[in-house]
Amino acid sequence: MKSFSLIKSRKMQGKLKDKSILLGVTGGVAAYKAVELVRRLKDEGASVTVIMTKAAGHFITPLSLEVASQNIVYTSLFDTPMAHIALPAKADVMVIAPATANIIAKFAHGIADDLLSACFLSYQGRIVVAPSMNWKMYENQIVQENLRKLKSRGVIQVGPEKGRLACGEEGLGRLSDVQDIAEAVGAAITGKDLSNEKIVVTAGPTREYIDPVRFISNRSSGRMGYALARAARDRGAAVTLISGPSSLERPCGLKFVQVETSEEMLEAVAKETGEDTTVLIMSAAVADFKPQERSASKIEKSEGMTLKLHKADDIISHITGRDKRPFVIGFAAETGGNIDRAEKKMLQKNMDMIVFNDVSEPGAGFEVDTNRVVIIDRRGKTVTELLSKDSIADIVLDRFVENKPCGG
Ligand SMILES: Cc1cc2nc3c(=O)[nH]c(=O)nc-3n(C[C@H](O)[C@H](O)[C@H](O)COP(=O)(O)O)c2cc1C
Repeated sequence: MKSFSLIKSRKMQGKLKDKSILLGVTGGVAAYKAVELVRRLKDEGASVTVIMTKAAGHFITPLSLEVASQNIVYTSLFDTPMAHIALPAKADVMVIAPATANIIAKFAHGIADDLLSACFLSYQGRIVVAPSMNWKMYENQIVQENLRKLKSRGVIQVGPEKGRLACGEEGLGRLSDVQDIAEAVGAAITGKDLSNEKIVVTAGPTREYIDPVRFISNRSSGRMGYALARAARDRGAAVTLISGPSSLERPCGLKFVQVETSEEMLEAVAKETGEDTTVLIMSAAVADFKPQERSASKIEKSEGMTLKLHKADDIISHITGRDKRPFVIGFAAETGGNIDRAEKKMLQKNMDMIVFNDVSEPGAGFEVDTNRVVIIDRRGKTVTELLSKDSIADIVLDRFVENKPCGG
């Protein structure tokens, strides 16, 4: 019988037992929630060492966190010489919750003028940041740029959430639930479970040219594919990201191949998917149709235009038709809940897994940071709630780990 499961978030499964967590608490109104987070992490069997910024001291006392963590709380760069090297050296994971706009900016620019920011620079493991601030601050392009920069360097972001803020306004800026932050910490500690994998990920749209200045494209931003590539890289895989035109920052620590048209995408996928590639994730929104002809010169307005389209090459079938082929994960963006059609597509194209999402649903699909998906594989279906694309990426990879062929 096929299985069905609903995923509200990734679970910790004892991952934090005996782990050493370095928690940075910064000066936001949600700082008081750090006490609850410390308790939650300790309940999971972790030991927690807290660093507070000076501003955090306006919102919560070191004593509260000392009592909760049963550990010394560090507040100054100069009180304990070399703490900025010694504390990170023994931490399995570093988490900053709440993370102010200020600390995010300092991290993104390598400023190290207090204990927490200096620890950030000397830490070589996984870092989780949980931003929390007024929605106008959060939506500020500078904050967004800083977060993008951090994420492209492997920092994991959890939240914020939409809701009522301390200032009385509604918006995106609330600190994530303590449980979600603890789970993100657990996920960060998962370790390098994909270190034997060589993964090719495609992302973004393609452009199909009508003439040198006009093209047909689609709304894909590349966010889902980039999140998958980053998550696979962070879990130890050797990753090649083949991207159509996207404004997202290029993630580091992986091979990046830029393409523009569906033909270039096909060429790149065929070339980059070698015999040693273990997984191909086709999350790019490759054009289904392209103009029958591409004019070499700009078509004059006065000439009028009737576009004749023909089907673009099917990239997945090129790979699944090979004798030696990787585990293939496809994506099906639909308008409406046509899950059966996605399952049929998976079987027809001989994929191993397909990720269905209804792009007409609020908060899911194109140009947003969240998604709600149904992951279909040969065993059954996994339905997720509306989660960040980073979380969805990890869930997709978790499903691959559960499905992967033995010895693969
Ligand atoms: C009452 C009050 C509430 C604040 N809440 C936040 C907040 O929730 N998030 C934020 O990013 N900054 C907030 N700030 C601004 C920070 O406290 C300020 O940027 C500070 O420099 C942060 O320092 P730190 O990042 O070193 O902790 C608040 C300031 C005040 C006075």
